[in-house]
Amino acid sequence: MSSSLGNPRPDNALRIVREGIHPVAGGAGAVMPGFADALTDAQVVALMSYLRSTFTDHAPWPGVEEALRRVKKDDSRQRNAQRARVSP
Ligand code: HEM
Repeated sequence: MSSSLGNPRPDNALRIVREGIHPVAGGAGAVMPGFADALTDAQVVALMSYLRSTFTDHAPWPGVEEALRRVKKDDSRQRNAQRARVSP
């Protein structure tokens, strides 16, 4: 567990924690459940600081709250759900 946590911005790590990891419909691949409905925004922000400091040597991400607002505005769970519905 390291790549998205080493990014200059927390957006991708936020998306993974909120939305999980889903292989394209019908494909094989890693699966992780999303935690957007299980964690409060404050918990997600705290989790990002913990993951960043525990699994990387980088300085803390600035602006995690702003990044979370960005990611929530562009929540791809809706697109994933849509894709799952239209797949054979
Ligand atoms: C609150 C609990 C969890 C947190 C905070 C979390 C966080 C993360 C993060 C940040 C990544 C991305 C790592 C990267 O960018 O390289 C990741 C990947 C992954 N997670 Fe989770 N995760 C959680 C729970 C779970 C659970 C319950 C499962 C499976 C049942 C799971 C399965 C995976 C898998 C398969 C990957 C992909 C690993 C890879 O790319 O090799 N995670 N997780």
